[in-house]
Amino acid sequence: MDSHPLWYYRRYKDIFLRKQNYEQEIAAIKSITSLDGQRVQEIGAGTGEFAEKILNCRVAHLEVVDYDPIAVEILRKRFAHQRNVSVIQANGFARAAGGQEFDVIIAMYSIILEDIFDKKNLEERILQMTTKLANKGVAIFEWIDAEISEKVYPQGMKSVVYENKEKDEIVLIESIYTPDTVTIKYSGKLEKEIIEYEAHLLSVTWREITSILENVTRLTGGKFGMVPIESLRRRVLGYVQKN
Ligand SMILES: C[S@@+](CC[C@H](N)C(=O)[O-])C[C@H]1O[C@@H](n2cnc3c(N)ncnc32)[C@H](O)[C@@H]1O
Repeated sequence: MDSHPLWYYRRYKDIFLRKQNYEQEIAAIKSITSLDGQRVQEIGAGTGEFAEKILNCRVAHLEVVDYDPIAVEILRKRFAHQRNVSVIQANGFARAAGGQEFDVIIAMYSIILEDIFDKKNLEERILQMTTKLANKGVAIFEWIDAEISEKVYPQGMKSVVYENKEKDEIVLIESIYTPDTVTIKYSGKLEKEIIEYEAHLLSVTWREITSILENVTRLTGGKFGMVPIESLRRRVLGYVQKN
């Protein structure tokens, strides 16, 4: 798995305006489960911005996982003095190695759809998340509903421009949706450099996820649910609760 470029981490908040969504995302998670006093794992913690919001919910312990060494270095520095946080460099969707169990596992930003190109692998990923759950534990993941995206962007294309005239920065972000993939292309000028970068995600619809979650819960004996994040059009939280 490749690292994202360094600017992606450094400027993630600015370019994607992510911080504007954090409160809504936390509220959506809380509509599924309480975080208070829970043992939580965040997969794909990046620079730890969202992890910081999770910590504000008075969790007992938070394990942040990222497979990218650059992100892990940032996370280690950021949480060095936080006793209830551990930082792990690993593929967060791999089968649990140790005996560590979590009450809540969170994977936001559609990362559950990164680096896989077959929908069968998605079912395996969600199953693997559930292997790390304690009794009644909940695995929560977020994705962009491809069906709605295709309706909203019938040309299969969305262009967003990030611009900061003072810093002489401009980035064009194009998302190209097909029934099977989402390609996100970044190009422009950032931190005085010309940037050109492409990321790939699997594309899934609400209907496809429903059948995957039906399978997962049949195999695990748990239950599943889906919560649209109303104010963030096209975004959905899916969850599986262990029995
Ligand atoms: C979009 S960034 C998240 C940003 C971060 N939460 C923040 O607010 O700064 C997604 C992160 O997930 C990581 N990632 C993607 N797939 C992963 C996986 N299978 N296991 C661990 N980390 C993963 C990437 O390396 C990246 O740092």
